[in-house]
Amino acid sequence: MNVNFQKINLNGFETPLVLIGVLEAAKEDPSTSGLIEVAKEVIEKGDFHGKIGDLSLLYSQGDIRAERILLVGIGNKDKLSPESIRKAVGIASRTARDLDVKKVSIFLDSFSRDVVEVTEATEALVQGMMMGSFQNLAYRTKNLEKYKHIEELTIISPDADNIVMKQGIESGKIIAEAVNFCRELAWGPANYITPTKLANEAIRFEKELGIKTTIFDREKAEEIGLTSFLAVARGTKEPPKFIIMEHGADKEGVDTVALIGKAITFDSGGISIKPSQGMERMKADMTGGAVVIAVMEAVAKLDLDLHVVGIVPATDNMPSGTAYHPGDIITSYSGITIEVISTDAEGRMVLNDALTYAAKHYKPKAMFDFATLTGAMMIALGEHAIGYFSNHDFVVDKLEEASETSGERVWRMPLWEVYDEQLKSDVADFKHTGGRPAGSITAARFLSQFTLDVPWAHLDIAGAMEQSSDKYYNPKGSKGPGVRVILDVLRNW
Ligand code: BES
Ligand code: MN
Ligand code: ZN
Repeated sequence: MNVNFQKINLNGFETPLVLIGVLEAAKEDPSTSGLIEVAKEVIEKGDFHGKIGDLSLLYSQGDIRAERILLVGIGNKDKLSPESIRKAVGIASRTARDLDVKKVSIFLDSFSRDVVEVTEATEALVQGMMMGSFQNLAYRTKNLEKYKHIEELTIISPDADNIVMKQGIESGKIIAEAVNFCRELAWGPANYITPTKLANEAIRFEKELGIKTTIFDREKAEEIGLTSFLAVARGTKEPPKFIIMEHGADKEGVDTVALIGKAITFDSGGISIKPSQGMERMKADMTGGAVVIAVMEAVAKLDLDLHVVGIVPATDNMPSGTAYHPGDIITSYSGITIEVISTDAEGRMVLNDALTYAAKHYKPKAMFDFATLTGAMMIALGEHAIGYFSNHDFVVDKLEEASETSGERVWRMPLWEVYDEQLKSDVADFKHTGGRPAGSITAARFLSQFTLDVPWAHLDIAGAMEQSSDKYYNPKGSKGPGVRVILDVLRNW
């Protein structure tokens, strides 16, 4: 989607479709009802209320120079925020797209209302539009013409500043593209989105964006001693890749932040095989890795003044004659011995090596990992929030603040030491699972043993990774969970 800006009044702009934000109780608010004749009528008759999600398509009949007007409810003025703009425009984006007008414009002032700051409002408009109208057609061949696209978005305002607008458009676009890229990878099937494919994205970044890329294949990982990661990879012929990406490696005097993403390109459960019902969903068990890859691209494009290290341990988890067994004892990269209980708890096997590797080699100021780690997370919080665990208040503050600005819900879960009781092994340093009670917490406790005391947060995105129907700016499918919140952590570092 090409996004641009025009400094012009609503009446003067010729466009096939313009989106106009309308507040709730607009009847009493002449600034909206007085906007244009046709809008006034539908509002005054009580046919349009301005609640978030309310839409009304009108024809301007010469009133203004736009052919069509889409009234978009933006809710209560007291509650107006970038998030409410993003939500409202997200819903409207699919209606706009399916009208097949190709060119869409948005009247900025009707959304920002002197309440939301112009850059933030612009960013939210662009995100709502691009994220909400996302569709992945890469694997379809039939009837492609029935899928419509918005090719150009023009944001109009009579008095907004050019530079401010450019900034909002640019960052809004980079972030929305990151979310959509993450969705594309996360929702892609295991026969296409292989560890090799993920590694190739990182190699592309090296060429296009100057991201420093290092990739360990099976032999190299073996040599280094990433044994816990390789234990999972033993069952598959699909070559595993331990992917390292660095932005700002040559910047001086900047903080280092490490991002680690679980990338199980297919989680069959291994020898502890999963029930076949719904197993196809485990193509998305590399969502954490997709988050990190997409975020690295955005970090480079935003050229953040930070050293950001992204680590993505990528492999299939398959049962076979060479697969690791329940009961195996694995010596991890950290030297800690792990008694494998279920080969289906493979996420923490690949993550522990990656955490230790990041902590040891980069000594980051903070580490964040993203993982579709436990089904129990879905039971705890459902799909509406990412549960996170942290060993340090400094990281907690960053996440909570970024949750506010990005509108992505995160919720802190306990990481109390008493849960280690459940990880006691009769034969090794730790068992790697602690039974059904508090399954997400014991998983987090397990990971915490491998952080070398670096301030860290583990984001379990298993609940929030996807949704079953269109909702606001998230169409059915992968949500690209965590991309926006971590980008705000990094942007506001
Ligand atoms: N990838 C799964 C977790 C998962 C389940 C994510 C459903 C999204 C939806 C993970 O590897 C797994 O299998 N976890 C087990 C852990 C158990 C064996 C301790 C689980 O949650 O059942
Ligand atoms: Mn599993
Ligand atoms: Zn898994």
